[in-house]
Amino acid sequence: MNKKILLSGVKPTGRPHIGNYFGAMKQFVELQDSYNSYIFIADLHALTSVQNKDELRENILGVLLDYLAIGLDPEKVTLYKQSDVPQVTELTWILNCLTTVPYLSRAHAYKDAIANGKEPSVGLFDYPILMAADIIIQDADVVPVGQDQKQHIEIARDMAQKFNSTFGDTFKLPDSLILENLATIPGTDGRKMSKSYGNTIELFATDEEISRSVMSIVTDSSGEKPENVYAIHALLKDKESLDKLYEEKKGQYKELKEVLIEDLKKFITPMREKRVELAKDKKSVLEVLKAGSDKARARAEKKMEEVREKVGLKLS
Ligand code: TYM
Repeated sequence: MNKKILLSGVKPTGRPHIGNYFGAMKQFVELQDSYNSYIFIADLHALTSVQNKDELRENILGVLLDYLAIGLDPEKVTLYKQSDVPQVTELTWILNCLTTVPYLSRAHAYKDAIANGKEPSVGLFDYPILMAADIIIQDADVVPVGQDQKQHIEIARDMAQKFNSTFGDTFKLPDSLILENLATIPGTDGRKMSKSYGNTIELFATDEEISRSVMSIVTDSSGEKPENVYAIHALLKDKESLDKLYEEKKGQYKELKEVLIEDLKKFITPMREKRVELAKDKKSVLEVLKAGSDKARARAEKKMEEVREKVGLKLS
């Protein structure tokens, strides 16, 4: 039986955190055997916030290393860079012409930018359409993401539907894959873990960084247990052993943080060491990316030939 298609991406905007990992990236690894997977580096999306050549280049290579270090196997997964598939931006334009400004004005990221008094770029406004193109151009069935991307997958579905009803059946309607208990991983202050809140624990943190982040977890002495510590700890331990531990060490917040530090170290160290090893052979890593990009581009081109024909851009 043909495997279903899974597709997702991460923006190269800085170091990934454990929210990215448990909310989305871990699923990429766990599902790589059961799906035909396309996992990419969303470098064009990153341009909405990173506008520095050296920084962007370093971040792109960084995400590639992250993917390999968490265990994505290039034999099973097509790993590619978004900008190596220019058909995506071509499709974005076509979808733009099927989208209204009021429709896109309801997107969360744009509304938040406006609410915060920012003047969003056209790129930020159009972000969901570029993402829709990423997804539907590869005929994705499922898109594993965190809760914050849910609306974007709904927009991708809407765009596929809109295109199909205007030009005839062409695109599959994708579904998001969001794990209920991991939909929004909390940060050190209990809010959603996010680079912009400065409440992250880095996925490839050094031992020292792990200690510092955990010690900065905000605790409230009025509760039964330190909720913010427990919530992060729950990512690493099953509920039964965790409840036992928190019962044994009731009220000992510092000790509980120390156990969390040790558990995080056990989880992070092997991945961090693997990443260091991978980084030593940049040439091989870049070859993996090139092979993946070639494959993703060829597939996208095939789809775009059909799109150009249906839209009326192709003359013969
Ligand atoms: P990015 O790079 O911001 O985030 C990568 C993934 O991490 C998830 N995530 C979280 N999940 C749970 N709890 C959190 N605190 C948390 N923080 C981040 C995000 O939901 C995401 O799945 N727009 C995408 C990149 C993208 C994409 C795509 C994804 C571009 N095109 C097509 C899927 C399909 C993004 O901003 O990722």
